[in-house]
Amino acid sequence: MVIRRLEERDVEAVSILNGTAFSMPWLPKDFLHLVQDPNSLYYVAEEDGRIVASLGVTNVLSEGNINNVVVAEAYRGKGIATRMMDILFQEGDELGIVDYTLEVRVSNKPAIALYEKLGFVSEGIRPRFYGRPVEDAMIMWRRKR
Ligand SMILES: CC(C)(COP(=O)(O)OP(=O)(O)OC[C@H]1O[C@@H](n2cnc3c(N)ncnc32)[C@H](O)[C@@H]1OP(=O)(O)O)[C@@H](O)C(=O)NCCC(=O)NCCS
Repeated sequence: MVIRRLEERDVEAVSILNGTAFSMPWLPKDFLHLVQDPNSLYYVAEEDGRIVASLGVTNVLSEGNINNVVVAEAYRGKGIATRMMDILFQEGDELGIVDYTLEVRVSNKPAIALYEKLGFVSEGIRPRFYGRPVEDAMIMWRRKR
């Protein structure tokens, strides 16, 4: 298992992987934008040439917006998301990110447990944030200050 930065050649596979977990996944062109964006750090986990996980962060005025966190179903529960997030925090800090934030569906217990384990706390609910199906988002932050 290799964890490395997203490259242009990965964008199709990453979009497909995100489509297995999210009802409104980003398109390959959206991921291509991330590859080229100096304020974004985006990672993939690769096993035998196959992309099995992805996640990333965009730095906006020292706030890191984390998005597209997904591990392929057969690879879940093996600590992959945790390992990738540890790398994201380390390199995000070097990029100047101070606080990290994300949104998660309120029913998504595995993801909420992952984020709480990583030090995120809920700071509120954004009603009906998601579509397909409509659902509230929990807004979580991991603050340094
Ligand atoms: C959420 C997700 C990314 C976790 O990835 P993962 O690689 O399986 O996570 P890890 O193995 O690193 O687990 C770390 C912690 O997360 C929590 N966790 C992970 N899977 C869990 C589950 N099924 N139930 C409850 N807690 C879970 C646990 O606290 C776990 O720590 P532990 O192993 O010490 O109990 C993965 O389940 C996934 O891709 N889900 C579908 C996409 C998604 O919902 N993404 C989040 C969008 S906001």
